Amino acid sequence: MTPHLSPIPLPAKSRLTGNSLRLSRDFPIYILTNTPAVLEVVGTFLEMLKPTANLQPRVVDNDAKEHAGLSVSLTSTSAGQGIESYALSITEKGVSVSASTTAGLFYGLLTFGQILFADDARSDELTIPCMEISDSPRFCWRGMHLDVSRHFPPTEFVKKYIDLLARHKMNVFHWHLTDDQGWRIEIKRYPRLTEVGAWRKEADGQVYGGFYTQQEIREIVEYARRRFVTIVPEIELPGHASAALAAYPEYSCTGRPFEVATQWGVFDDVYCAGKENTFKFLEDVLTEVAELFPGQYIHIGGDECPKSRWDNHDLCQERIRKLGLVNADELQAYFVSRIARHLRNLGKRLVGWDEILDGGAPEGATIMAWRNAQKGVEAAQSGHDVVMTPMSHCYFDHYQEKESEPKAIGGFTPLETVYSFDPVPPDLPQELARHVLGAQGNVWTEYMPDTNHMEYMVFPRLCALSEVLWSPHETRSLPDFLDRLKLHLKRLDRLHVNYRRLTD
Ligand code: ACM
Repeated sequence: MTPHLSPIPLPAKSRLTGNSLRLSRDFPIYILTNTPAVLEVVGTFLEMLKPTANLQPRVVDNDAKEHAGLSVSLTSTSAGQGIESYALSITEKGVSVSASTTAGLFYGLLTFGQILFADDARSDELTIPCMEISDSPRFCWRGMHLDVSRHFPPTEFVKKYIDLLARHKMNVFHWHLTDDQGWRIEIKRYPRLTEVGAWRKEADGQVYGGFYTQQEIREIVEYARRRFVTIVPEIELPGHASAALAAYPEYSCTGRPFEVATQWGVFDDVYCAGKENTFKFLEDVLTEVAELFPGQYIHIGGDECPKSRWDNHDLCQERIRKLGLVNADELQAYFVSRIARHLRNLGKRLVGWDEILDGGAPEGATIMAWRNAQKGVEAAQSGHDVVMTPMSHCYFDHYQEKESEPKAIGGFTPLETVYSFDPVPPDLPQELARHVLGAQGNVWTEYMPDTNHMEYMVFPRLCALSEVLWSPHETRSLPDFLDRLKLHLKRLDRLHVNYRRLTD
């Protein structure tokens, strides 16, 4: 393996063609398809190239044919399969990136950026081996999640995280914005959600918390858009609602005063399924959320919702009777189906954790299989799209090594396990495989008190997952990946990422 053929994730097809290209450090960029969208992609690429030492490429007039440079063009037909595919050609004469979409161009430019990143030389010129790459991703949902409730990272970190996703050709950021320990998104109609729900009093008396204003969220959405990352916001319901109920206890069954939770776990007080006002509240919240996030998906949680309050509440029991439901699982299904109807009216699609299958998930819901991959098989068999995120392979809050690691929530999911993951389970009938949109790594932050620690838990496991999601299954090789990773970690060094060191 040569370092220059070492992008992560590995391109679908690449081959060295002999000879090499010499490129000046201020190489020219020729934009052969001069549209605002292409100019914007090149602008983002140049911004992302900045941490690479000692390179000053510049966009020049196409007529001013100078020495060898980078040509960027949109073509009318796809360079490979799929809307994210691209072709990258490096010959003695220059470099060309072409694709039929701006997303494809972005990924082609990123691959070239990684090849440039490989260069450590201090010489005036870069020497790059000639090669041909044609590339497209295996899956369309290449996701990473981040829980910002248990610990709260500032907007600058959220941007860094999105940037790092994009650099690994990941395209979905699942932003877990609400949970028992903090509500993190400003909602104008319900100001107490952040006045009260964003803050918790720790055992030592200190107040911990924070939230993102709608203006900050708009900026982050735009930052992500320029990197072809779609944000899927999560508003947890009907469980994991302590922070919201601390602000608005009237939407619980008991109406008791509550505090924003300071312990980790699962709490009995959840949104009341009997009161109409609860639905009005959640629909108002989701309407504001839908206006902020242009992507088609909104995640509504649905996991770990105890039913003890519903079992003992007159209004909930009355609803069960009136609707002819058999149990509280069916009441949760009713709850979720009402929310799904509202999201449809907003032009959005619902995503939920796999518990929303219990009692029947709404038609068209996308399921995140987290308890195990079998839940994903069940979802696909019921006609649902699935994002695979099983604890066995995709939980980056688990330990990375058996000993000498900082305290984590539990579990053991080392780099090799992540790399071995196949999002399409072997027992899934082939005709249902199209329901598997992809997979996602989950980052629950109970035991990640700061952003340094979040990075430590995410990297390099994210690198392995990016290859699971992008590269053809048959090209995957752990020794080859680990070899390329050594160089890739130097790229992460230049981006100031606090990754976990490899052990020999
Ligand atoms: C989950 O880990 N509770 C989705």
